[in-house]
Amino acid sequence: MEQKLLKVTIDNITVEVEPGTTILMAARKIGGDVVPPAMCFYSKLQGSGGKCRTCLVKVAAGSAADPRPMPKLVASCRTAVMDGMVVENITNPAVLEARKGVVEFLLINHPLDCPVCDQAGECDLQDLSYEHGSEVTRYEFKRRTFQRIDIGPYIQLHMTRCILCYRCVYTADQVAGNREHGVMDRGDHAQIATYIQKALGNEFIGNVIDVCPVGALTDRTFRFKNRVWFTKPVDAHRDCPTCKGKVRLWMRGDDVLRVTARKDQWGEVEDWICNECRFEKKKVSDWVIEGPTRLDRHSVINAGHYVNVVKPKETFTSVMDGRQPKLLMDIHSISDVNTVDLNEIQGPATGQTFNGNQMAVGHNPTDLKAGKGANPKGTDSTNPETP
Ligand code: SF4
Ligand code: SF4
Ligand code: FES
Repeated sequence: MEQKLLKVTIDNITVEVEPGTTILMAARKIGGDVVPPAMCFYSKLQGSGGKCRTCLVKVAAGSAADPRPMPKLVASCRTAVMDGMVVENITNPAVLEARKGVVEFLLINHPLDCPVCDQAGECDLQDLSYEHGSEVTRYEFKRRTFQRIDIGPYIQLHMTRCILCYRCVYTADQVAGNREHGVMDRGDHAQIATYIQKALGNEFIGNVIDVCPVGALTDRTFRFKNRVWFTKPVDAHRDCPTCKGKVRLWMRGDDVLRVTARKDQWGEVEDWICNECRFEKKKVSDWVIEGPTRLDRHSVINAGHYVNVVKPKETFTSVMDGRQPKLLMDIHSISDVNTVDLNEIQGPATGQTFNGNQMAVGHNPTDLKAGKGANPKGTDSTNPETP
């Protein structure tokens, strides 16, 4: 029997959806600016949503049968559509004001780590803060800090940046099928923990990095290797016995700096990928390259890529007696910068890496101070003693 579709109007645009659809998914069907931001909801993870409140909307009319408005703003990712429902998102200033408050709360304990954070440039919290946040904080208390934890050989947890969205917990539970970490404690003590830092050994666990909306879970094989806006993403695949092998390679020159799953327009993973594809296949020859990734126009990688630009006349060659700038700036004789394989070194490159010692690595700006052991006050930029 054919199901009766339900009519819902969001920001004056009416759409028909199946019973059981949430307001957020109905808005995604419309697309564009009416779609509320979602920091914790993930359509591919059962039970996700309802944690962060960034997706708040006003239900101005509950249904055709009972058109009374709902008394409070509701989380659109968890509220099902009723026939004749009228919803306001960007058309209601109270919703935008409330969202501003939610962002302020999300940032209360968040460090100012963007300059050293691997997620910068592709961080949902950064985007949300630019769009809905304010320039200053009213928070006067000490922020909570944590030590960084290596969750197994490939993943690092930077709890200071975590917004407790639970996505990684659901991923570990539902995708990796082996829940070894969860949220311990409650309130301002809540934290993602691995029950005595037990390594997460499952072969799909790397996906927690992709679902994390912030830089709390990072890829240890990529940390501090490069900024995302300097990389070129390409789609590639391989014949993988464990997963579909459809990935995105983040390249710099011929180096594959990072491998991630492909994401859709809502920033959600299309196909989960296995650890082997993600962490161990870092050579171009491991992959069949399909072509450049079609990037969202909001992507930071697209910034500065303009079309139909009229460039000023290049005068360098005429001023330098016909010599090509490339020849003048060739630094091969004094630096190894073009010969170092950034994939092969264990950490971020230093001056030495390009000056005779190609395997030399520096420490991450947020690392523990070598030889001094753990820093009990935390190891991120909120701690003035961080090296
Ligand atoms: S997660 Fe990283 S990039 Fe995102 S807001 Fe926090 S510090 Fe900045
Ligand atoms: S570590 Fe990331 S994915 Fe996990 S709860 Fe924190 S913010 Fe969410
Ligand atoms: S996305 Fe709806 S509450 Fe987080």
